[in-house]
Amino acid sequence: MNKNPMVIANWKLNGGTDLICASVASVLQHDFCAQIGIAPPYVYISDMANFLRNSKVMIGSQNVSKFESGAFTGETSAQMLKEVGCQFCIIGHSERRQVFLENNASCKTKVKRALAAGLMPVLCLGENEQQRNLGLTNDIIYRQLHESLEGVELNGMDLCVAYEPIWAIGSGKAASPETVAEIHAFIYQELIGIFDKPTAARINILYGGSVNKDNAEYFLQMPNVSGLLVGGASLVPEHFAQICVLASKSCAI
Ligand code: PGA
Repeated sequence: MNKNPMVIANWKLNGGTDLICASVASVLQHDFCAQIGIAPPYVYISDMANFLRNSKVMIGSQNVSKFESGAFTGETSAQMLKEVGCQFCIIGHSERRQVFLENNASCKTKVKRALAAGLMPVLCLGENEQQRNLGLTNDIIYRQLHESLEGVELNGMDLCVAYEPIWAIGSGKAASPETVAEIHAFIYQELIGIFDKPTAARINILYGGSVNKDNAEYFLQMPNVSGLLVGGASLVPEHFAQICVLASKSCAI
């Protein structure tokens, strides 16, 4: 692939001032050619974006409202996120789908809101264990991709897709690199169908699910794997930096 790999940290409901300081210090020690992003909880976005203002590290959010403004208590709009320094937002993480009942239709609205505000959407998808055992992985991914992206106009903006099998998230049981490569090839083909070949080729397809500093390299070597979405291991700043260093080894330049 002719684009540089991308590594995104998803802190989930973790972190605080100590982690912010340690993570900022850790990423600033390097000049990664891979594209690096960190998604802390909303309240830390502004500070982190300021600390990393002069670096290439992107700051993003873990979610975004499907609404633009108005009487929606507790919501944060794409425009607000852009204003405080976000460059991307994670959309449709399986925890949002399972715990907050998000679906493909709401993901599509969020993708459109993000793009309209100038944020890169990082659309998450993946099957659960039961679906996997029933051989439904491709069907689930097909629906997630088509129902969330068909009719979306990128207009030259970046989009990122993260394949995160639910059974691999936080379980310590990552998918095998071969399985990931197969599913990423399927995702790439579907993206060609939804958009077109040049557009699909520009989309980073990340793998997420129990990625750590010891297994990251195996995924990064696989065809169609152009980055990683890292949860637990991103909470250890040195481990996250090591993963970013590994990803930087596969840069195109
Ligand atoms: P994990 O989480 O790396 O802790 O498995 C990944 C994610 O949920 O994005």
